[in-house]
Amino acid sequence: MLAFFKSKPFLKDLLAGDYVDIHSHLLPGIDDGAKTIKKTVKLAKAFQELGISQFVTTPHINHYVWNNSEQDILEKLNETQVLLKEENIPIPFKAAAEYFMDDWFENHLKTEKLLTLKDNYILVEISYLSAPFNLYKIIFDIQLAGYIPVLAHPERYTYFHKNFTEYEKLKKSGCLFQLNLLATVGYYGSEIAKTAELLLKKGMYDFTGTDVHHSSHIESMHQKIKIDAASNLKEVIANNQFFKF
Ligand SMILES: [Fe+2]
Repeated sequence: MLAFFKSKPFLKDLLAGDYVDIHSHLLPGIDDGAKTIKKTVKLAKAFQELGISQFVTTPHINHYVWNNSEQDILEKLNETQVLLKEENIPIPFKAAAEYFMDDWFENHLKTEKLLTLKDNYILVEISYLSAPFNLYKIIFDIQLAGYIPVLAHPERYTYFHKNFTEYEKLKKSGCLFQLNLLATVGYYGSEIAKTAELLLKKGMYDFTGTDVHHSSHIESMHQKIKIDAASNLKEVIANNQFFKF
């Protein structure tokens, strides 16, 4: 009998035309995402072509690198919404933030009203080099302040790959997981794709995000997925409907 390999689906086709994205860097000139409004326009158009129906864009708030305030982000959002309307781009979008969990943030979350994805859900990230020594204390404090932490791209923290129990511990501590869709097409390499596949198969992801910064991310969004968990992936993509506004 001939060996028969089932072809993997295109990531775009899994988005099913009504995807609600909750992680991107499309506001111009505010972080390492879109540098100019022209780029924002291009990326927003590309979002429409991908079948994204709405999005919450999430500039970095990382005090020592991207010192944005909630106020800065909301002002930039208003400006951008006006400009995109003038360009006849009808895709609805809001803004929240991607909060970097460090000592500064630990204090910030107690004194300021944070930008949420919806209700009390906040998007958080940690360093790619190592986890903060007080990670679980910060996660606890986030919840004490009344928020639900959604950890961005857990698959990209490579120091957890060989210590999988840390993922289980994070989930147990009340952290939700957001998969970066680009991990499924191998954009960040095979090790990260493998971890994404494992987390998907174990049902550990709650939501997904594009984390689009620039047009090379968009190009990769048009590829076929490289992992073996398409049905799990479809479910987690559908979960994003929760954020519809
Ligand atoms: Fe991001």
